[in-house]
Amino acid sequence: MSFYQRCREAWTGIWSLPAGEATVELTAPATTDGALGRAWLRDGIVDLASIAAFSRLSMQLMRHGAPPHLIEGCHRAALDEVRHAQHCFALARRHGTGTIEAGVFPALDGTRVPRISKADLAVDSFVEGGLWESFAATLHAAGARAAEEPELAALLAQISTAERAHVELAWDIVAWSLSSDTDSVAPKLRAAAAKLPLEPDIDMRHAPDSWLRHGRPGASAQRELFTKVRETARRRVEQILRSQGVPAERSA
Ligand SMILES: [Fe+2]
Ligand SMILES: [Fe+2]
Repeated sequence: MSFYQRCREAWTGIWSLPAGEATVELTAPATTDGALGRAWLRDGIVDLASIAAFSRLSMQLMRHGAPPHLIEGCHRAALDEVRHAQHCFALARRHGTGTIEAGVFPALDGTRVPRISKADLAVDSFVEGGLWESFAATLHAAGARAAEEPELAALLAQISTAERAHVELAWDIVAWSLSSDTDSVAPKLRAAAAKLPLEPDIDMRHAPDSWLRHGRPGASAQRELFTKVRETARRRVEQILRSQGVPAERSA
């Protein structure tokens, strides 16, 4: 199980938005649908895990001598994720989860930054950023377009824009890894591109279409969007490979 998954599963706490940022807290309860609240809660937990994941990524990049703009990008992204987690938890509370106080993060106990090869670093950025964060950005953008409340639409658009920046950071890391160690990185990127998941990794089986007006695409829309995002990620990695002189794979 990856560090990222462990973080997602272990976290039990909730963070509130700082005082003074209540304008985006969307205070009036929109619904008492517990499932919708739990869906936002789960998103908030993913964002929390992302804070730790970006912190770890910055250290792994430093270990490989990455340029400062990539390190800087990681820290900016981690700060974005702090805010995303707070917003998602605000939305969860609004949909009936109640307030849960911040808890400890046991997944971090005794955690050390694992040694990771440049090829694995590239693959992680490709999959976590080029695929999953791109999917998150796409979902939030779709939610923003459909949300009935202007404040919610604006908030989701803002989160989507930040996620899109994280996606570009991930591609920058892929490109840098590849350019500095083409022979080891290229085959692993190709292998990862060949086995990208076919379905979203999130529990979206019960997401009804009626959630769209609350800023969350339903299950069937999510599947459709995921297929597009997956294809875009696959094409983009191939583009990067070719731009760095790696010949296209011959089909058998
Ligand atoms: Fe996020
Ligand atoms: Fe992100």
